[in-house]
Amino acid sequence: MSDAFDPVFDPWSAEFVAAPYAAYARLREESPVRWFEPSRQYLVSRHEDVNALLRDRRLGRSYLHVSTHEEMGRTAPPDYQEPFWTLNNNGMLDREPPDHTRLRRLVSQAFTPRRVEALRPVVRRLAEELVDAFVAEGGGDLIAQVAEPLPVTVIAELLGVPEADRHHLRPWSAAICGMYELNPSRETAEAAVRASEEFSQYLRALARRRKDDPRDDLVSALAAVEGLSEDELIGTCVLLLNAGHEATVNVTGNGWRALLRHPDQLRKIKDDPGLLDGAIEELMRFDTPLQMFERWVLEDIEVHGVPIPRGSEVALLFGSANHDPAAFADPESLDVTRRDNPHISFGAGIHYCLGAPLARIELAASFGALLAKAPGLRLEREPVYKPGYVIRGLESLDVSV
Ligand code: HEM
Repeated sequence: MSDAFDPVFDPWSAEFVAAPYAAYARLREESPVRWFEPSRQYLVSRHEDVNALLRDRRLGRSYLHVSTHEEMGRTAPPDYQEPFWTLNNNGMLDREPPDHTRLRRLVSQAFTPRRVEALRPVVRRLAEELVDAFVAEGGGDLIAQVAEPLPVTVIAELLGVPEADRHHLRPWSAAICGMYELNPSRETAEAAVRASEEFSQYLRALARRRKDDPRDDLVSALAAVEGLSEDELIGTCVLLLNAGHEATVNVTGNGWRALLRHPDQLRKIKDDPGLLDGAIEELMRFDTPLQMFERWVLEDIEVHGVPIPRGSEVALLFGSANHDPAAFADPESLDVTRRDNPHISFGAGIHYCLGAPLARIELAASFGALLAKAPGLRLEREPVYKPGYVIRGLESLDVSV
């Protein structure tokens, strides 16, 4: 394998983050499984492989259920990061069976389809209020004024976080999510540790209050679930907040950017609102909000003739899989009428997004409200992507109505 790709696949460069899809095309064609020294991972870029590896039990989001760090040939994280890792490892996302199965089942007892469906009118009303205020101001930053407040408020309502405390949620979440980027700095790690401590402390107190005096909210419901420890409850709430809003914000921002750059596609949804649900799936495919997920290799495997030994890490390139011509007709075109759309943005296999139905409700509400109430939305300046590659989204989206 040559190193010719290194300058092209460069997740730390602003140019690559702004437009990664051409580099992915080269990876898929020339080197679908490729060792990437800077992050010491195997990059996997084809849809078929990403989809298969997400479902392959010889890989895991964690290896701690089968081995120690040393046995896996890795080093344990430094002691000072312990509060972050404890919190992280108490959520279901970084657990593997049988723990993952138990946790997902227990959390699903409280985070039920009925509870989620009951939120639909609440979410719609909230989206309409946010959009009304946005229109009254003549527009502004769509991310700060609509995209962010909606999912954060929804998850806060769902969990039962009192209004007066909600302003903490996004800073805590942003600090913690910094750890999910490639090779986080010491400063990022320290901020994540502080946020993990504060957020855990906050949730522990809230869960105890709700246990003694339950309300109709998810923290109370989780506190009543038999077999879920307090630490697991806290890990679950943090996961729901983090997983539950960062990506939704970025689908909204990336999605509107894409629509404003493709007025013919925007026109089609305006003319036929029945296309909206399919259009949202297409926007999630076209500019993928979570570009990469990692897996540990628990047994030696081989992909396209490349042996990948136990203890390695693979980086599954969701953005690339979503643009693979082997899975999508004309993948570089935005097509809101696309029918056959097996995008991988919600993952696959046992960790498939638990919040996908809620995310779809939120996105339908905010895109729907904006289309109805701000039909003349116009880009005021070219938006810039935030530096993050894994969780990829716009800094701001300045538009006029
Ligand atoms: C458009 C928005 C969203 C996207 C693109 C998204 C994407 C994903 C993906 C790709 C995974 C799997 C990660 C992996 O396999 O390594 C995942 C897992 C998860 N997501 Fe989402 N998500 C979104 C919204 C939400 C929402 C709104 C919630 C909850 C309120 C949520 C909760 C979760 C949880 C709990 C998991 C872990 C599931 C498990 O480990 O079994 N997500 N999400």
